[in-house]
Order: sequence, then C-alpha cells, then structure tokens
Amino acid sequence: MELRFAIKIPNTAKSNLRLTYFILIDYNCAFLLFPYSNKLHKFIPIMSILEINVYPDPILKRVAKKIIDIDDSIKQLAKDMFETMYQAPGVGLAAPQVGHSISLVVADPASNDDPPNPMVLVNPTIIAGEGETTIVEGCLSVPGFSAEISRYQKIVIRALTLDAEELELTLEDFPAIVIQHEIDHLQGKLFIDRISRLKRNIFERKLKKGTLA
Ligand code: NI
Repeated sequence: MELRFAIKIPNTAKSNLRLTYFILIDYNCAFLLFPYSNKLHKFIPIMSILEINVYPDPILKRVAKKIIDIDDSIKQLAKDMFETMYQAPGVGLAAPQVGHSISLVVADPASNDDPPNPMVLVNPTIIAGEGETTIVEGCLSVPGFSAEISRYQKIVIRALTLDAEELELTLEDFPAIVIQHEIDHLQGKLFIDRISRLKRNIFERKLKKGTLA
C-alpha cells in the first residue's frame, strides 16, 4: 500500500518554479524527502510542475536562445516540462512558456487512440514545409481562446536530441501542426499573432473585460 501526498514548496533557487515533493508512506516506514538530499533523489524522482506564463507576459514575445550545452539542468527542465504539459493537459510546450527563453520543446502529439509519442527537440528548425492544413488551435499560454490557424500540412525539421544527436524528422498533419505551433513559441510568436486583425481585436477586448471563456 502506498499513499501519496503532494506538498507545494515555493522554490527559492530557480525563479518561478514550483516544486512538488512527494512523501511516500508505506505500512511501517515513513520518510520525508528533503529537497536537497541527493541520495534520495537517485531513488525517487522529484517531479516538478512548472508555472505556465500567459499572454501578455513579455517572455512569450522574445526569440529564444539556442542551447549550446545540453547539461543536466536542460535534461531536468525537459522532464519537468513533460510533467507540466501532461498535467495541464496539453500536447506541446516550449521552454519560454515556463520562463526559460531557450530553444527547447517537448510534445506528445499522439491522438487519443495511439500510444504516447513523447518528443524532445533541442534547437528545432523547420527546413522544409509543404501543403496547407487548418485546425482550431489553442495554447496553454492563451487560456480561454482558440482560433482556426493555417499551417503547413507536412514539414521537415532538424533538431538535436537530449543526447546531442542530430535528428531530422518528417511530420504530417496533427504532429506537424503541434511542432509548428511550438517552434513559433521559440520565435516569440503565438497563434494569436496569426489571426486576422478583426479576430485579434475581439480577443484583446475579451481579455481586457475578463470575458474569455
Ligand atoms: Ni502554445
């Protein structure tokens, strides 16, 4: 038998992260995970749910920096971004959305019936795009609003894996849309930057009035 309690402790070290520490209790043994106890970290993963920045946070408009060194902090950030994305829930998340203006994306664009398809992309770029497809998009950084956006139906991207291996991927349809949306984030662009002036005005008015659904 295992009981789980989540305690949220404000993170003093890393800006706006909120770390969630779990205390695991079984019948006759109870112990507390101390945040900086490295020994315990090896046995029990510490999960972090990050705070998602929302429009009009200026970090969302910034062009993200390329990652030069994929160190442990980047790998941990990718893990935490997955936790945050799955919890939201969302199908993709870019590092600027969680307060890091660096070129890192996590995504899981599998449809409901398919097995999970988690992807981590470091410094992704679109090297080719063709066709056109349109779906109604939303964004964890623009809560309460969605709009039809036109994108490439098929893309070829280049990126690095977390092991610094070069990756070239061809994506179509929904995964292609998700990754285009996330790469936009790295360029300081949101899906609301791709809608008509009229729709954008409606959005801004609703935001001001606090009437976004
Ligand atoms: Ni988004």
